[in-house]
Amino acid sequence: MGLNYYQIKKNVRKARKLVIKGTTAAGSGHPGGSFSMAEIIGCILYKFLKYDPKNPLWEDRDRLVLSKGHASPGLFSNLAVAGYFDESEVEDLRKLGSRLQGHPDLRCPGVEFCGGSLGIGLSFSIGGALAAKIDGKKHHIFTIIGDGESNEGQVWEAAMTASKYKLDNLTVILDRNFIQQDSYTERIMPLDEELIGDDISEMWKDAGRWKVGDKWRSFGWNVTEIDGHRIEQIISAIDSTLQTKGTPSMIVARTIKGKAVEHMEDNPKWHGVAPKPEIAPLIDLELDCQFMIAPSIIAGDMTNLETEVRKAVHGRADYIHLDVMDGVFVPNTTFDHTKIKELRPITEIPFDAHLMINEPVKHVQNYVDAGSDIITVHAEVCNESSFGEIRDILKSNKVGLGLALNPQTDLPSWSYKFIPELDQLIVMSVVPGKSGQKYIETTHEKTRKLAKTLSDKKFEGFIEADGGVDLSNAGACFSDGARVFVGGSAIIGQPDVRNTISNFRKKILHARRKLLINKAYELGGTDLVNKWIDLHIIGEKKNELIQIAKEASYV
Ligand code: DX5
Ligand code: ZN
Repeated sequence: MGLNYYQIKKNVRKARKLVIKGTTAAGSGHPGGSFSMAEIIGCILYKFLKYDPKNPLWEDRDRLVLSKGHASPGLFSNLAVAGYFDESEVEDLRKLGSRLQGHPDLRCPGVEFCGGSLGIGLSFSIGGALAAKIDGKKHHIFTIIGDGESNEGQVWEAAMTASKYKLDNLTVILDRNFIQQDSYTERIMPLDEELIGDDISEMWKDAGRWKVGDKWRSFGWNVTEIDGHRIEQIISAIDSTLQTKGTPSMIVARTIKGKAVEHMEDNPKWHGVAPKPEIAPLIDLELDCQFMIAPSIIAGDMTNLETEVRKAVHGRADYIHLDVMDGVFVPNTTFDHTKIKELRPITEIPFDAHLMINEPVKHVQNYVDAGSDIITVHAEVCNESSFGEIRDILKSNKVGLGLALNPQTDLPSWSYKFIPELDQLIVMSVVPGKSGQKYIETTHEKTRKLAKTLSDKKFEGFIEADGGVDLSNAGACFSDGARVFVGGSAIIGQPDVRNTISNFRKKILHARRKLLINKAYELGGTDLVNKWIDLHIIGEKKNELIQIAKEASYV
C-alpha cells in the first residue's frame, strides 16, 4: 500500500481497536501478543507488502506468514483494515463456522499459513522462499515469530537452513516481548539471559544483556535490532533488509506485550485473556489517547541545530518539530528547506515541519523533497483552492497533511471538507514568531471546542498543542484533546532534555489516567472505577490511580 507514517499510525490504532472488539465479543483470544506486534504487522501490510485484497491468491503477491498464530486477532484486524473483508467480521472471532478462528485458518482471505502449533512458520516460509527462487519469482516473504516460540528446536534448524540456501527473499521479525504463555521468557528458556527477580524492567534497562541478535548472527543471518513500536525504525529496518543480498534477514524487534493498554503492558496475564465487556469502552478510549512529544529545536542554539536534533533523539522524542519562519508571515526568520535537508540524515525520527511562511503552496514541494514526514501550513495564508493543491502534493508524496491556526483564527469553513484527511491540526497557543512566550490561557477552551467540532467532522488525525507548552500545562492540554505536544523552551531549552521529556510523559500519563478514571465513573460508578484500578497490577500505576480516584471522591 505504501502508506505514510501517519496513515500507518492511524491504521494500527484502528486495528488495535478491532482486536479489542473481536476478543471481547469472543470472550477469549490473545490481545497481549497481538498488541506487541501491532506496529510490526502494520508496517509490513501498509508499507511494504505487495498484495491485492480482491485477489488474495494472486501468484506474485508477497507472503505474510504469522508463525505465532495465537496472535491471530492482530492479523485478522489488520487484514480487515487492509480491505480483505469487512471490519465488522472481527465480531465473529472464534465463533463456530467463522473464517476468523482462534488461530489463522486458510479459509480467511489474506492468511497464508495455519500457525498455532509453534515453531513451524519459519520452516514453512523457507519452503516458500526456496520455491520462489527455483521458479524465478520476485516476491518477498515476511515472517513474524515469537520469542516464546523460539524455545522450539525447529526454529534453529530452520535458521541454519535459510542461511545455507542464502534466502535473501526472506525477512523474519522476532516479536521480542519477553513474555510467553506462563511467564517471562527469560525464566522459562532464556534467549538472552536468565531473569532474576520479578522485575522485567531489569531486562529493558540493560541492552548489554540482549544477546538473541548475536545468536542469529552466528547462524549467518543479517540482523538488525530495533524498537518494535517505533514505526520509523521498523520501516528503515525493513527497507534495508530488502536491499540485502545473499543472506536471510532477521529483525529483532524489542516490544512490549499488551502495548498501548497500560494494564496489559508487560503483564503475562494478558497473553491469552479477553477484556471484560464493561472494560472494553475504557480500553477503546485509552487507544484513542496515545500521545507524542515533539521538541522544537529553535529553542536551542540556532547556530548548531544538528546538536539540538541529537539532543531530541537522545531524549527519545517522538517527532522533531521544525519551525520554519520566513520573516514575512512572521517577523523572524529561522531556516528553510535547505537546513531541513541537512538535518535529515541525523535521525529517522519523523520531521514535523511547521511552515510559518507566506504562500506555502509555492514552497511545499521543497519541504517534501527535503524529507519532511508531515508538513503543516497556516490557515491564514491558504484558501480552499491552495490548500487543495497542498493536499494533493503531500498525499501523492506520502507526506502527512497538517493545518495550523493562530490564536485569533477559527477553523475556516473552507477547511471542513479536508478534515477527514487531515493528519494534524496545530492549535497555536502563542502568537507565532518565537519560542519562549507564555501560553495563552484561552487556548484551553478553544482546543476543547475544536476537538468536539473535529470529531463531529470525522477527524482521525492528532491535535498538536504548540506554543508555551510546559510541565505545568501539558496535562491540561491533553485533557483539552491535544495529543501531540511541542516543547521549545520547556524541552530543548532545558539542560537535561531526556529527563524533561520523560517528565512530560509522566504529566500527560497522569492526565490520561485521570480521564480514564472519570470515564469509568461515568460508565459504571465506584464499582467500575475499582475494577479498572484492580487491573493495573504491574508497575507503579495502581497507586497513582487510587490517588486520582480518591481525589475525585469516587472511592
Ligand atoms: C512558535 C513556534 C513554536 C515555538 C515553541 O512560533 O511555532 O513551535 O517555538 O517554543 P515554546 O515551546 O518555547 O513556545
Ligand atoms: Zn511550531
